[in-house]
Amino acid sequence: MAVRRVLKMGDPMLYQPAAPVEKFDTGELDGLIADLFDTMAALNGVGLAAPQIGVSRRVVIFGVEANPRYPHAEPVPTTVLINPVLEQIGGEMEEGWEGCLSVPGLRGLVSRYKNLRYTGFDQRGRPIDRTVSGFHARVVQHECDHLDGILYPMRLKDIRLLGFEEALFREL
Ligand code: NI
Repeated sequence: MAVRRVLKMGDPMLYQPAAPVEKFDTGELDGLIADLFDTMAALNGVGLAAPQIGVSRRVVIFGVEANPRYPHAEPVPTTVLINPVLEQIGGEMEEGWEGCLSVPGLRGLVSRYKNLRYTGFDQRGRPIDRTVSGFHARVVQHECDHLDGILYPMRLKDIRLLGFEEALFREL
């Protein structure tokens, strides 16, 4: 399919809630998902949400094997998640550095729920139901925020916890 342009922070579309997917297993949905994967791969992302390529639908993809942008990240299975519902477990939160393809070059320290159950559907309409923790839970929370028009800098407790990668991580 195609590598699409990723909208950057400031684009009004990134702040709009996305609409649910109503029809599964369609050519249109398959095309969107192929474009999301092509775009994520081209930019070495660990996740991407449909609104980031200008499609206001509740579709996210994510997955990590070995990623040069996140050298210490634990693996996360490659997943298509549609119309997700998130439910935090236990209330414990954890801080971690996040980046976003819509906020290139920057990282921010964001607090997320450590333990998470998420449900939703894949592109064929098959249900997904997983209970996860740590980095996997963080990625899902970050990507699903995009569906509600939230970018991670909006969750920072202190603007000083946002910075350029080369300044924050001098060893890289
Ligand atoms: Ni993002």
